[in-house]
Amino acid sequence: MLEVDHVKIAFQSDKEEVTSVEEVSFAVNPGETLGIVGESGCGKSVTSLSIMGLLGKNGKVKKGQILFGDEELTKVSEQRLREIRGNEISMIFQEPMTSLNPVFTIGNQMIEGIKLHLKMKSKDAKDYAIEMLNKVGIPRASEIMKEYPHALSGGMRQRVMIAMALACKPKLLIADEPTTALDVTIQAQILQLMQNLQKGSKTAIILITHDLGVIAETADRVIVMYAGQVVEEADVFTLFKDPKHPYTQGLMASIPHLEYENEQRLVSIPGSVPGVKQMPKGCRFHTRCQYATERCQQEQPELEQIQEGHKVRCWLMEEAPLHPVLGKPKEELVT
Ligand SMILES: Nc1ncnc2c1ncn2[C@@H]1O[C@H](COP(=O)(O)OP(=O)(O)OP(=O)(O)O)[C@@H](O)[C@H]1O
Ligand SMILES: [Mg+2]
Repeated sequence: MLEVDHVKIAFQSDKEEVTSVEEVSFAVNPGETLGIVGESGCGKSVTSLSIMGLLGKNGKVKKGQILFGDEELTKVSEQRLREIRGNEISMIFQEPMTSLNPVFTIGNQMIEGIKLHLKMKSKDAKDYAIEMLNKVGIPRASEIMKEYPHALSGGMRQRVMIAMALACKPKLLIADEPTTALDVTIQAQILQLMQNLQKGSKTAIILITHDLGVIAETADRVIVMYAGQVVEEADVFTLFKDPKHPYTQGLMASIPHLEYENEQRLVSIPGSVPGVKQMPKGCRFHTRCQYATERCQQEQPELEQIQEGHKVRCWLMEEAPLHPVLGKPKEELVT
C-alpha cells in the first residue's frame, strides 16, 4: 500500500540547507500497524509529514520515492495531495490545533468532512459525528459539537481530532503520538478504537510513539529511528525478544519493569541525539555506543538484512557470531 524508499528530507533556512532525515525506507501493507520509535528529534514526525505532503514551503524530499498505491506522492499535484489527505490518508497530529480549524465549530467541521467523504446526508452525518465523539470518550457530545476548538481542553481536542480522523475510514492512518497527552484509561480506549477500525476496514496504521509499551501492544512491525536514519526493522516479537542494534537495546533497557519495582532498574542511554548540524562521522550512534570500534567512528554502516524481515544498521552484526554481548537475549544485557 505504502512504500517509502530511500527518502531524504531537508529544510532550507536563511543561509543553508539542513538535512533532517538522511535515509528512511519502509513499507506498510493493508491492515498492518507499523510502529516508529526513536528519541526526540530522530525524524519521526518529519517522515510522516513528508508522506502527507505537509513539509511546508521550506521542507523538501530531496531523494527517494514515496509510493502510495501506484502514485508517487512526491510528484503528484497539490490538489491531488489534498484529495488524498481527505479521503485516503488521515493523520492524527502531535498538536491537535494543526488540524482543527479555529473558525468553525467542532460539529461543523465533523459534519462537513463526513458529508464530503462518506456521502452522507446532514442528519445522518450529525448522528454519526456524535457516535464517533462518544466512541473516543467525549461526554455530552451533542453539546461539544456546538463548541469552537479553543473552548476545549488539550485532551478534548486530541479526542475530537482522533474521532475526525477515524470517521472517514481512511486506507492509511498516520498517528503521531496520538495519545501521549491523554490519561492512561482514555489512551487504552483510543488504541482499542483504532484497532477495531482497522479490523473492520483493513486500514493500515503508522503509529509513532515514544512508548514501547504501546508498540508492544499494537504494532505488527517496528522501525527504530536514530538521528534521521532507520537503524533497525523487525516484527514486533523479534524486536522485543532479540533486539540487535545497541540503540534498540538501550531503548528496551529503559522501559520500566514493574517486577523490579523496588530495585532501580531503569537505565537510560547516556548522552543525547546529535543535532542535525553536528552529525558524527561514521555510525551516527557511535558517540553513545558502548561497543563502538575504530571502524564505527570512521565508516557509516548500511541497513543490512540479517534474517528474513530483520534489518540492522550496525558494523557489529558482521562480527555478531563472535561478539560476546550482541546476539544474546535482552535479559542478559540489562544490568
Ligand atoms: N520545519 C522545520 N524546519 C527546520 N527543521 C525542522 C523542521 N521540522 C523539523 N525539523 C528538524 O528535523 C529534525 C527531526 O524532527 P522531528 O520533528 O521529525 O523529530 P521527532 O522524531 O518527531 O521528535 P519528537 O519525538 O520530539 O516528536 C529535528 O532536528 C528538527 O529540529
Ligand atoms: Mg515528532
